[in-house]
Amino acid sequence: MTDRYAVIGDPVAHSLSPRIHAQFARQTGQALSYDAVEVEPDVLPVALQALHEQGYRGLNATLPHKVAVMALCEAVSERAQRAGAVNTLIRTDSSWRGDNTDGEGFISDLHRLDYGVSGRRVLVLGAGGAVRGILEPLLAAAPAELVVSGRSPWKPEALAEQFRPLGTIRPSTHLALKGDRFDLIINATSAGHGGEAPRLPGQLLADGGDCYDLSYGKAFAPFRAWAESQGAARIADGLGMLVGQAAAAFELWRGVRPDTAPVIAALRQG
Ligand code: ATR
Repeated sequence: MTDRYAVIGDPVAHSLSPRIHAQFARQTGQALSYDAVEVEPDVLPVALQALHEQGYRGLNATLPHKVAVMALCEAVSERAQRAGAVNTLIRTDSSWRGDNTDGEGFISDLHRLDYGVSGRRVLVLGAGGAVRGILEPLLAAAPAELVVSGRSPWKPEALAEQFRPLGTIRPSTHLALKGDRFDLIINATSAGHGGEAPRLPGQLLADGGDCYDLSYGKAFAPFRAWAESQGAARIADGLGMLVGQAAAAFELWRGVRPDTAPVIAALRQG
C-alpha cells in the first residue's frame, strides 16, 4: 500500500501542501499520497486517532491546529516547544510525535535567496506565533543585533525574556525604532491580511538592506509597497518559506531532502 500523508486544517481547501508534496514525491521518486483533511477544532483529538488508525504515516497541521496538536502528541521536539506550535507530526507506534519545521524552512529560504544574517542588524516586525517560530534559527545565525518590534512593548519583551537562554533580543515598539538602521527587515505581522503594513518610522533600512515577508500572495502587497518605498535592495515573500517548511517535513518522513527551487517556480506560475 502507498504511504499516506495529509495536512489537517479548518479550512484546508486552499492549502498548497498537497501540490507541494506531490511535486516532492515525483522529484524524489517516492511513492506516497498526500491529502487535505478538514478537521474542526472540537474533533481534533478524535481525528488524530482516526488518522493514526487509518495508517497515515505523517501529518502537517495548519490553522487553527498548530498550537492545540502540541498537547495531543506523545512527544514534542525542543524546537517545537520553543516555537509554541507543531506543524509536522510523525507517526509512532501508538500516537504522534510533534515537530516544527517553520523556522528551518524560513532560514533555508534566506540561504536560497542568499540573504545573509551573520553580522547584520536584523529587525523582526511582530511578536505573535509566526515570530516565535523563527527566533531560534535567527539567533543561531549570529546576527550583529536582533530586534523584535511590536505596536506595544509587552509581547516583544516577553519574547526577549523567553529566548534569553538562546541569545540576546532587543525588544522595541515600532515608534521607538526611530533613528535605528537595519540590514534585514522581516515582516512577521499579520497586518498584510488586513491590507496594511505596520506603521514604521522612516529610514529604518540601511543602504543595501533587504526585506522579507513571511506572507505571500495578496497579503504580501502592503509590505512590498513599503519596502519599495524605502529603497530595499531585495524584497522577498514567504512562498519559499512555505515550500522550505514542507521540504523539511518531507525529509523527516522520508529521509530525503527535496529541492525547493523548482517547486517554488511552479507555484509562482499558478
Ligand atoms: P501569528 O500567530 O501568525 O503571528 P498574530 O499573533 O495574529 O499572528 O499576529 C502577529 C503579529 O501581527 C502580532 O504580534 C501583531 O503585533 P502587535 O504585537 O503589534 O500587536 C501584528 N499585527 C497584527 N495586525 C497588525 C497591524 N495592523 N499593524 C501592525 N501589526 C499588526
